[in-house]
Amino acid sequence: MKSSAASEPFAAFMARALFDPQRGYYTRHIKTVGARGDFSTSATLSSSLGQSIAAWLKAESHLQPRVRHIIEVGAGDGSLMQTVRRSLGWWTRCHFSFHIVETSPVLRLEQQKKLGGKVTWHSDLESALASAGGQAFIYHNELLDAFPATLVQWCAAERRWLEVHVPESLHPHALDPAHFSALRHTTFADRQRCELHPSIRDWLRQWTPHWKAGAMLTIDYGDDFPALYHRRPHGTLRAYLLHQRLTGADIYANPGRQDITADINFTDYCDWLRELSFTQSSHQTLAEFLSAQSAPASLTDPDGAGTAFKCFVHRPQACASSHHPS
Ligand SMILES: C[S@@+](CC[C@H](N)C(=O)[O-])C[C@H]1O[C@@H](n2cnc3c(N)ncnc32)[C@H](O)[C@@H]1O
Repeated sequence: MKSSAASEPFAAFMARALFDPQRGYYTRHIKTVGARGDFSTSATLSSSLGQSIAAWLKAESHLQPRVRHIIEVGAGDGSLMQTVRRSLGWWTRCHFSFHIVETSPVLRLEQQKKLGGKVTWHSDLESALASAGGQAFIYHNELLDAFPATLVQWCAAERRWLEVHVPESLHPHALDPAHFSALRHTTFADRQRCELHPSIRDWLRQWTPHWKAGAMLTIDYGDDFPALYHRRPHGTLRAYLLHQRLTGADIYANPGRQDITADINFTDYCDWLRELSFTQSSHQTLAEFLSAQSAPASLTDPDGAGTAFKCFVHRPQACASSHHPS
């Protein structure tokens, strides 16, 4: 593959396609999430997830009764927050203030139509945590998969990873292998592609210094590394347009008009949180999480990609002593 002077890293293309202030998919063109949108999520397919998150929040609030704020990050059409609030019941609902962190002006409007004055909106987690005095229960579902991914390809002849640019061309990368498990892996077949998320690492490093107490529930599709790439020589990158899954060159078609997403490497994600001194107290599949909260584990993989959803709970270290890691 030839290099091109006019190329940009795939991560820059994805950031622009999804979040360009004037023409990005999330900033301008997304209509909603669910049956009327381009893709559905576990939250828009069933109320089980919201009910289970509410049960998790109730259990957490018994353990840390002084935490009185709940923050959802990346709330889509607002249906998850709506189900969570309903399922908490009146007494528990009254105990908490509710916050949404949302970067999409279009989806924020959808959320406001559903939730009105019951929630405070923020454009970043730092300001949500500031208004919560640093003490909050945080949850997010299918947020991380929308973060721009850096795309790399293994070059077996040279025994090195190269970064994919758009238009497609291969270039040396500038990432530190200490932070990305894939870059330390040297036994893939030629041309194996992997997605890395320095964007998620940077995001964690920005807001976590403001988080002092509570717990964070992360739900997303992905796996540990290298299991994530088993039988996936082309990686996990894909686009969605009107519920159609698009791969290969179709990912570059219609920038700003379709969703682009990649699975999460949870080995890296959990390493980054550990480096930041957060304690992991649970690591489950979504089915295990739902059944632990006594909800019917009837959710199927909504993107049809054969990927599995995982749930993790992390806490600031001061809050971790009363919990038994599983
Ligand atoms: C794939 S949708 C998932 C929506 C919802 N959580 C659900 O399960 O239906 C991703 C959501 O995250 C939002 N988002 C993306 N990047 C974000 C960021 N850095 N901070 C906050 N929200 C973000 C999007 O606007 C959208 O609401």
